[in-house]
Amino acid sequence: MDNRAIGYIDSGIGGLTVVKQALLQIPDEQVYYVGDTARMPYGPRPQDEVLGFTWQMVNYLLKKDIKMLVVACNTATAAALPDLQAKLDIPVVGVIQPGVDAALRKSTDGEIGVIATAGTVKSLAYYNGLLQGNRAANVVQLAAPEFVDVAENHDYTSEFARQVVKEKLTYFKNHQVDTLILGCTHFPLMEGFIQEAMGPKVTLVNSGAETISTVVEFLDKYDLRHAAANPADHTNDEYFTTGSVKRFATIGGRWLDDKEMTVKHLDIVGDTLVLNESVTD
Ligand code: DGL
Repeated sequence: MDNRAIGYIDSGIGGLTVVKQALLQIPDEQVYYVGDTARMPYGPRPQDEVLGFTWQMVNYLLKKDIKMLVVACNTATAAALPDLQAKLDIPVVGVIQPGVDAALRKSTDGEIGVIATAGTVKSLAYYNGLLQGNRAANVVQLAAPEFVDVAENHDYTSEFARQVVKEKLTYFKNHQVDTLILGCTHFPLMEGFIQEAMGPKVTLVNSGAETISTVVEFLDKYDLRHAAANPADHTNDEYFTTGSVKRFATIGGRWLDDKEMTVKHLDIVGDTLVLNESVTD
């Protein structure tokens, strides 16, 4: 048993789609979250830069004594997971392998699409993982950075969002798939529009949601579950952003249905993230 928090990191609000699943599937567990909104998107950045930014977020959470780390960002998982797993002495869970495993399980014909950031697509992490599991799979990748922009900077429930999704996914009219992996944690915010654009026959895989099954496995394997008799008080969950505190709280609060969500600001000082509670905007 271990009552410390699980730490989550992402380039922005995308990882909250993973947190949402965590709150549903493992409600006893405390949440600490860092979103590097000031430097998002990570998708177009070189892998070594994403690796460096990822370590800065991780180092901040380590100081807060987390018991497990969830890299709730595909781009960061592709760039940093092996390094984090090799160097940290707490369990580290990424979002890509759980998505690969779920897609292989769910696909009927092995025709699998992946929508993700440019960084994730270029890393071939999904592509290689899928082919490793099924040599006969036909994997079609599409970078969709527009969806990250919609999620962070616009109303992701708007008609505008719907049109952006619809237009981008016309690509799959000529590249038929039976299963589509949402290979970026921002994308489940627009899952309804994505399903509508792909049609009801295509199965969507939400990598973030699948990831929580791996988290549960690790909680049990390493005896890290929070005491059930004394579950986490979610008013003590902590959310941090390097960007606008207000905007994070508005979008995050809406997504997690948490009107009281407290979000604190982190300054980027050299290679270190430093808490600055005087920033409230
Ligand atoms: N949410 C992120 C992911 O899962 C990255 C979005 C971005 O910063 O480009 O890949």
